[in-house]
Amino acid sequence: METKKRKISIIGSTGSIGTQALEVIEKISDKFEIIGLSGGKNTELLKKQCEKFKPKYVCSNDVDFKFDGIKTLYDEKGLEEICSNQENDIILVAVSGKIGLKPTLKAIENGIDIALANKETLVMAGDIVMQKAKENGVNIIPVDSEHCAIHQCIKNIKQVDKLIITASGGPFLHKTKEEMNSATVEQALSHPRWNMGKKITIDSATLMNKGLEVIEAHHLFGMNYDDIEVVVHPQSIVHSAIEYKDGSVIAQLGLPSMHIPIQYAITYPDRYEGIKSKSFSFSEIARLDFEKPDFDKFPTLKLAYNMGKIGGSATVCMNASNEEAVFAFLDGKISLGDIYKITDKMTQNHNVIKNPSIDEIFEIDNEVRIKTKELIKRL
Ligand SMILES: NC(=O)c1ccc[n+]([C@@H]2O[C@H](COP(=O)([O-])OP(=O)(O)OC[C@H]3O[C@@H](n4cnc5c(N)ncnc54)[C@H](OP(=O)(O)O)[C@@H]3O)[C@@H](O)[C@H]2O)c1
Repeated sequence: METKKRKISIIGSTGSIGTQALEVIEKISDKFEIIGLSGGKNTELLKKQCEKFKPKYVCSNDVDFKFDGIKTLYDEKGLEEICSNQENDIILVAVSGKIGLKPTLKAIENGIDIALANKETLVMAGDIVMQKAKENGVNIIPVDSEHCAIHQCIKNIKQVDKLIITASGGPFLHKTKEEMNSATVEQALSHPRWNMGKKITIDSATLMNKGLEVIEAHHLFGMNYDDIEVVVHPQSIVHSAIEYKDGSVIAQLGLPSMHIPIQYAITYPDRYEGIKSKSFSFSEIARLDFEKPDFDKFPTLKLAYNMGKIGGSATVCMNASNEEAVFAFLDGKISLGDIYKITDKMTQNHNVIKNPSIDEIFEIDNEVRIKTKELIKRL
């Protein structure tokens, strides 16, 4: 019997996650109908995606962007319109940065399930987002490979004692702290395992990405920070694990590929062959290494734990200042080591609001970005 096609929109379809999601959909095109696509600056690619996938709606940041036969929307309002469209069964939120938060909330208000790649949404407003999802009966299915792994391992969260999140350790795992802190942009962008957008690649080099993932895991699975452990696993084969109350550990393994968690998230609870990774062989892999993270070399990870534990607007401040510092590093204005110094200073100077509203979150985000840019200028 033919199953009903799942109607999907992808916001951020021109990015690393977005393009891989379209590769998945192309492979199992009989399972999906595309409602909306969106891009930021890459209008060339967005145009090609419109030609190939013929969505009903497209959203661009370029006011001159138009495509015959497809309703064109613009900017954040356009993203929100796509995400409010109840034709959608699921929205893949694959934009990077704070732009993901409002469209995600719109989808939740409209009862539409979400495949969530955009971790900033939970780092900025995890309490509000998860509460609203619960109230509206919306499933939030993680796309991040670590959270996808945990999602696959958990049957009953009440029986889980600990989440174990793996980290590849990034390009500087075996470099000294000094080598890491003075690395070039090119060195920081050459991640040994994953090919991703620039912002997340730099965060992976400093391990801030792992810190953001710890906060994401806290919100997604409702675990205390003390029960979320990060372990460095350079081969990126074990994508994460959980420890049950009786000490049993269940891990999810696979060759590193973002196609698989994306496919899992957008087809959940079904599973299809789709883009299938090479068959797994323990004997070919031969060994799996694990080590404790070096919090001295990667202080951003410690900072993220601390800000997560403080909660409220502390993670908003950390996220915004880190993002501005990452952009400044990519622009050659500061060193890689300065990213931590800036983020640490900004969070130390921040007056935490315990339960900020969405408006307050955006106000704080703006204010922190302005102050961070000033601090960067003074450096
Ligand atoms: N890449 C991964 O493997 C991976 C893994 C786990 C989680 N994530 C998370 O997934 C999200 C996306 O990551 P990515 O690596 O795919 O990033 P990316 O390659 O930089 O792509 C970002 C996407 O968002 C769009 N975008 C950026 N700013 C925008 C704005 N102001 N308005 C509208 N659209 C905007 C970009 O459009 P243009 O390119 O057209 O400008 C692009 O489509 C991030 O939150 C990241 O942390 C990524």
